[in-house]
Amino acid sequence: MQSAASLAPTDRANQQPDPATGDMLATRPHLSMHAVSGLLLGDVPLNAIADTLGTPCWVTGADILRSRYRELTGAMAEAGLPVSVHYAVKANDHLAVLRVLGAEGAGADVVSGGELRRAVQAGIAPEAIVFSGVGKSEDELRLALALGVGQINVESAEEIVRLSSIAAGMDRIAHIALRVNPDIEAGAHDKISTGRLGDKFGIDHRDILALYAQAAGLPGLRPVGLAVHIGSQIDRAAPFRAAYRRLASLVDALRAAGGQVGTIDCGGGLGVRYRDENGLSPRALAGAIRAELGDLGVRFAIEPGRWLVAPAGLLLASVLTVKRQRDGAPFVVLDAAMNDLLRPSLYGAWHGILPLSAAVAAGPLSPAHVVGPVCETGDSFARDRMLPELRPGDRVAILDTGAYGAVMSSTYNARPLAAQALIDGGRWACIRARQPVEALWRDETVPDWLQRADLPPLQDRLR
Ligand code: LLP
Repeated sequence: MQSAASLAPTDRANQQPDPATGDMLATRPHLSMHAVSGLLLGDVPLNAIADTLGTPCWVTGADILRSRYRELTGAMAEAGLPVSVHYAVKANDHLAVLRVLGAEGAGADVVSGGELRRAVQAGIAPEAIVFSGVGKSEDELRLALALGVGQINVESAEEIVRLSSIAAGMDRIAHIALRVNPDIEAGAHDKISTGRLGDKFGIDHRDILALYAQAAGLPGLRPVGLAVHIGSQIDRAAPFRAAYRRLASLVDALRAAGGQVGTIDCGGGLGVRYRDENGLSPRALAGAIRAELGDLGVRFAIEPGRWLVAPAGLLLASVLTVKRQRDGAPFVVLDAAMNDLLRPSLYGAWHGILPLSAAVAAGPLSPAHVVGPVCETGDSFARDRMLPELRPGDRVAILDTGAYGAVMSSTYNARPLAAQALIDGGRWACIRARQPVEALWRDETVPDWLQRADLPPLQDRLR
């Protein structure tokens, strides 16, 4: 199923008209359009960053990260819930993003040894890290135990046995939560729904009692509670409540059987506004947790990714060419592509597009297809989007790309990874240099029987 509006194809019939420039700015107070400097994030003209770093280029606003984090923790505190926030590193794993959120007090939710190392490298204490994921290698589990991560969320009977033997062999005690598959339809896009029995995630809720008891009897393990994560970009409280209700009855049953349950990891999944969705407020999430789990006397963890970082990021791009068709809207070809921002191609996701120039933005609107230069029809950011006239050299910002943006980039079509900048207060810095093209083949080797001694170095041929 494909119900979430943000993920629906942009050319879907019967949809509301795309929000106008003014509406997009009004719903994103961190953005403003200055008559001379053009689009600003906070006080910083985005053109200044593009002039220095070139395009495509990702920009992240540190102040937005902080204010989102504070809104989230404030909502939990207001509801009287003892909650620790474990930022889902997968949404945006840049060290500077982790540093900003870590300094605010965030722990981390990681799903690989790489993310675990990144989080620790950025200064997040291992005890504040939850290691999730449906498949963890022995090396990854050893790393987690050696660093002393706070909690490992296990997802299968097999993993419980394997982790027990690794932990016991290392003379460590792994604090584990069993990730429950509650069999709930989250109403999110099919590709990012994770809590139905047909999905690969979690342990069938009907097997939890037996496995919890088994884990409690195994060396090297201490079951501390349950975890659940039913999907992403969820904009209704009802699926969260249904999942949490399932967990509450499991906690009752576990306790009745003599089990100790001290913590519940309520997962991530809070939706944001990309187009005209409502998203889900942290207050609504806090309400769902309190209503269904608030009387259990447990500590809570949450693992939000998208909600914290999506609105904090932009992708800047320049128009390479405008290809006018005999029929239909023109193709505005950007220098950014699906290898940079995959969400529109992969999920049909809608992202706002704003010109960086106030003069361009003020022009009359007409439909355009906004695409990248990659050789796939799916390399498209928008179809029939109402936009002011864009000419070669004009720049645009693709909005709300702070989550699942740069992290999902590839170098397809031998396109190096884009530069990244961080805006913090009135200043900004480059936080990732554009990848040099040579880096694309630096780790490749040509076997010696295929070597050619007669090839001059590439740079000599460019003279
Ligand atoms: N915890 C676990 C176990 C997860 O698998 C995820 C996301 C999160 C937390 C964070 O969920 P969030 O709060 O960000 O919704 N690439 C997709 C989203 C994939 C989400 C995967 N898991 C997209 O671009 O929409």
